[in-house]
Formats: sequence, structure tokens, C-alpha cells
Amino acid sequence: MPPLPKGFLAESLQRIQPSPTIAASQKARDLKAAGKDIIGLAMGEPDHDTPDNIKEAAIAAIRRGETKYTAVEGIPELRAAIVKKFKRENNLDYKIAQTFVSPGGKAIVFNALLATLNPGDEAICVAPYWVSYPDIVLLAGAKPVIVETRLEDGFRLTPQALEAAITPKTKWLVFNQPSNPTGACYTREQLKALTDVLMRHPQVWILTDDMYEHLVYGGFKFSTIAEVEPGLYDRTLTMNGVSKAYSMTGWRIGYCAGPELLIKAMAKLQSQSASNAASISQWASVEALNGPQDFIPKFQNIFEERRDLVVSMLNQCAGIECPKPEGAFYVYPSVRKLIGKKTPDGKTISTDEDFAVALLEAEGVAVVHGAAFGLSPFFRISYATSNAALEEACRRIQKFCGNLR
Ligand SMILES: Cc1ncc(COP(=O)(O)O)c(C=O)c1O
Repeated sequence: MPPLPKGFLAESLQRIQPSPTIAASQKARDLKAAGKDIIGLAMGEPDHDTPDNIKEAAIAAIRRGETKYTAVEGIPELRAAIVKKFKRENNLDYKIAQTFVSPGGKAIVFNALLATLNPGDEAICVAPYWVSYPDIVLLAGAKPVIVETRLEDGFRLTPQALEAAITPKTKWLVFNQPSNPTGACYTREQLKALTDVLMRHPQVWILTDDMYEHLVYGGFKFSTIAEVEPGLYDRTLTMNGVSKAYSMTGWRIGYCAGPELLIKAMAKLQSQSASNAASISQWASVEALNGPQDFIPKFQNIFEERRDLVVSMLNQCAGIECPKPEGAFYVYPSVRKLIGKKTPDGKTISTDEDFAVALLEAEGVAVVHGAAFGLSPFFRISYATSNAALEEACRRIQKFCGNLR
């Protein structure tokens, strides 16, 4: 491969890393393709298929010839479905003009942050964070301010830590629950304690990433920021998507609702980038949001059972401590007690990345190390895979940990 000319690549690109979760999943896929016995627990996507009624809606849209450009902001039918969804599930009132559709939830975050951040601005990201937040902030030329949470606090942001992180330059709090990577959720009261802080700082806008809203367990009741504190409605962008709840990761649809002028700015940016989300995927998403929702509790039951299995088996591993989160399909166990130990072939586990690499090499289990999410020493397991694969993976992790000295 001939080298690129010096200075050819954008400086902004040098500020960011390729997505470590995508890299870890790809590595597992490559090893599998090479014939290795690999159990991939790195990928953040549900393992079940997109429900049939949603697929049929897409096929019908193709047959009707809905295969052309759409409005940048999304087709009116999907925007109307988004208005209904926010009213039905979150008790939030939005007008159609306050809604927006992008090719994936990631593109919503990208559009919102790129449309608003300037060099010198700060955006608070709560660690461990979804890997893309700080890098999108960096790409925009602004400064991610990382606030670490603690296992002892259930990986939840505390009002004190939030208050301490806010400065006159803070433009956004990028907030996510149920959390990727920890699965942590916030009760209404816990959210209210945070919104009380935010009410005192009118310069701070809130991007709340509610992608995993429907994946909560044990009767947990999901709430979102603008619902809990209507005083923040005018500076909150509430984002969601069909990827996780409806098992539609490949369709690439994310959506949001918020202040109309922010939506207009995001549309300006998207008009010069992706233009619009795929027309067929938008029609499928109309069916996802308006159609029967009865498979959601079925998915929830399956995930809850898997969460309980994984948490219980991981807590039987020597040196691992695994809290039991309320949502998403991830757990974020601590390997603090394993740092400094050696594998049978003499490799020292100095970091959580060493742990993940050695586990993959020794036992063929692919996980993502905590440093990728900004909080060590931990690792993330996605339990969106079959019970049999999870049991086998946990047995292998137990063996791996038992062999460390
Ligand atoms: C917290 C969070 N937000 C947003 C996204 C992006 O979702 P999408 O696949 O729709 O771009 C993900 C995907 O992993 C996620 O975990």
C-alpha cells in the first residue's frame, strides 16, 4: 500500500479512534471465519430477528415504490409516529416540526453535537460511556469532560459529581440510560436529583440517549429527563431509535425530538451529509412504532433470564465482581482483583485490555475491555446471545480466572 501524502488526512480525524467495540467484534468475526472456536460477546446488538410485521411493511413500501429521496427530516408518517411514541410512552408533547430522523441513533448524536459545538466548548460524558460520545465531541473540536462513576454507586452519575463537572463552558451533558456499557438505569427520584442540578445551570443542554428504554427488567419503570423536569424541556434533546428495541440494527434508523431551532440546525447539517435515512427503513420504522408492541415484553423476559444467568455465573469466577444492572443487555464486571496476576503461559494481566486479549487467546471468548469505555479495570459482556453460548462462555471465563496465579 503506498503511503498517503503528508498532511493529507484531516487533523480532526487524528483526534479520534476507530470504534473499539466495532474493532473487537470484527476481530471475533475474523477469528471465527478462520475456523477458531470463538464465542463473541462483544457486539452490541440483539440476536433475534426483526419482527415479521416490520419486514412486511418494508417489502410493501418497496412494492409501492417508496424508494426515492425523502425529506431530510424524515417522512411525515414516521415523524407523526415519533410524536405518538413520545406521548404514549414518555408523556412528552412534541410537534412534528420538533422531530427528526437520521440513519441510526449514532447519526442523531453526530448531528446534534456537530451542529452545536465550537472549539472551547465542553460536553460532559459520563464514564463508562458509550464509545462514540467523546470521539464525536473531539471531532467537533470541543472538549469532552469525563465524569467517572463508581461501581459502588451502581455506575450512576451523582448530583455532586455532575455539579463539580459543570463550568461556564459546558454546552452539553451527554446522558445515557439504560447505559451501554453498564446497564445502569435511574429511577425518577435519581433523575430528579440530577435535573435539580441542571436547573441551576441554564447554559447546559441535555442530550439524553434513551436507545435501551424498552430493555429494562424486574419491573423497573423507565423515565426520561424532560418528563421528570418539564423545566428542562426547552434544552433537552430526547433521542431514541429502533435498533435495539425492535432488533433493527441493520436498518439504520435513529430519531429524536427537541427544540425546533436545534432540529433545524441538525437538518441543515444532514442536508449536506446523508440527506435522509433510507426510505424503506423509514417505512419499516413506522410499523415498528405504530404496530403491535407485544414482542417487547417477550424480548424483555428473554434478556432478563440471560442477565440473571450471566451475573450469577460471573460472580462465581475467582476475582470477578459483577453487579446486577436493571437494563440494556450488558454487564460490566470488575477485574480489580485479577490485576497483577499471571496466566499459565506467564503473561501478566496489568490492565483490563490484557485481560480481554488473554481471555480471547486462551479461551476464545471475545469481550470488550473497560478502558474502551473510559473506566478501568472492567470489561463489558453483551448477553444478547443464546443461553447455551452464554453458559459456555461463562464456564470458559471461570476456567480462565481459575487458572490465573
Ligand atoms: C447508547 C447507544 N446509543 C446509540 C447507539 C447507536 O445506535 P444505532 O445503531 O441506531 O446507530 C448505540 C449502539 O450501540 C448505543 O449503544
